[in-house]
Amino acid sequence: MSDVSVERAASIQPVEPMAGESRFVRGCLRLPVDRTPVWFLRQAGRYMPEYMAVRKHHSLLEICRTPEIAAEVTITAAERLGVDAAIIFADLLLPFTPMGLDFEFVAGEGPVVHTPVRSLEQVQALRTDRTDELNYVARAIEKVATHFAAPRPDGDALGIIGFCGAPWTLAGYMIEGGKQSGGDRNYIETKKLMYSNKAAWSLLMEKIVTVLVAYATQQIEAGADVIQVFDSWVGKLSVADYTQYCLGWTTELVQRIKAMGVPVIYFGVETASLLPAMGATGADVIGLDWRVPLDVGWKAVGPGCAVQGNLDPIALFAPEDVLKAKVHEVLTAAGGRPGHIFNLGHGIVPGTPVENVIRVVEWVKEFGAQ
Ligand code: CP3
Repeated sequence: MSDVSVERAASIQPVEPMAGESRFVRGCLRLPVDRTPVWFLRQAGRYMPEYMAVRKHHSLLEICRTPEIAAEVTITAAERLGVDAAIIFADLLLPFTPMGLDFEFVAGEGPVVHTPVRSLEQVQALRTDRTDELNYVARAIEKVATHFAAPRPDGDALGIIGFCGAPWTLAGYMIEGGKQSGGDRNYIETKKLMYSNKAAWSLLMEKIVTVLVAYATQQIEAGADVIQVFDSWVGKLSVADYTQYCLGWTTELVQRIKAMGVPVIYFGVETASLLPAMGATGADVIGLDWRVPLDVGWKAVGPGCAVQGNLDPIALFAPEDVLKAKVHEVLTAAGGRPGHIFNLGHGIVPGTPVENVIRVVEWVKEFGAQ
């Protein structure tokens, strides 16, 4: 862990979040709830015909950058599924543009950064002063918050989730540059820079944290109840490397968001061995992937954290009885303890039957009493 980052993280004074009104926020704070809150990673995406209808006329970035459309996509998914929270429709890579990094989404290949960041000079050239340009995400959140201002028929307010990437995962996209999706890579260039160029790595982490704190601030001011930090590819790191090179920066990001009075969910994939270190960031909730049994994962992050997860997204392709048994398995492992938010272990994939996603919501509502 970098000394600078430890000192900076230690100097932040956390503010106790207000006990939230909604079932979802109460779950994040490990407060008792009437039943387990539920939402899904990638709940607005290509598996959903309503999203594909919008996508036919607009690129992914157009949807993200047009508050009316981003809000509509966010609202439609949450209402169609009947979930307890809506995650704003945006993408992890949006902050790259004001930082001065061009990227695009190439069909079938995922994001591609045209000039990957590989040297101290390139890190020095990254801008941190143009985060206002990301304001379209905050405008979309305002629209979603206005839409969901009134309580739902069951009296509960819908939670609104803003999000950003974590330093490691964003650095990975900046340095590797594409072309495969993140999980397939070995992160050779990223680790080369991390191991060999301390000045470049520290400056890059610091710049990413600066931009993300400003971006999260905009989202919170616009009405986000909770911020989720996605560290999707953190599982590529050993515990020792995560602790030495990333934990301090991630802790700083988490603590500075928490200091604004909202709970933070910190999520990664293939994290079984990293969970105690992830819990050390002080995040309110740790997102678990499906590989670790929920009770084992919860024990690893420690009793001071809530957990989110962790059904295998591919279980949504299973026959009804198998899927139902797997939903029960997750709920049983949670044991009705306050602080479990039902979700998948990673995002819904294209081709997933929408009716199975809705079935899962209904089962959680039926059996997820606490
Ligand atoms: O409903 C929601 O979950 C909100 C929307 C959302 C998107 N991206 C829209 C999107 C969210 C939360 C993200 C975050 C994101 N983006 C992550 C973290 C989440 C995770 O899965 O771990 C990551 C790693 C990215 C970067 C990214 N964006 C990749 C790797 C891809 C390609 C994925 C693929 O399967 O092709 C994207 C594109 C993207 N972002 C899509 C959506 C709905 C699919 C492409 C499309 O609609 O054209």
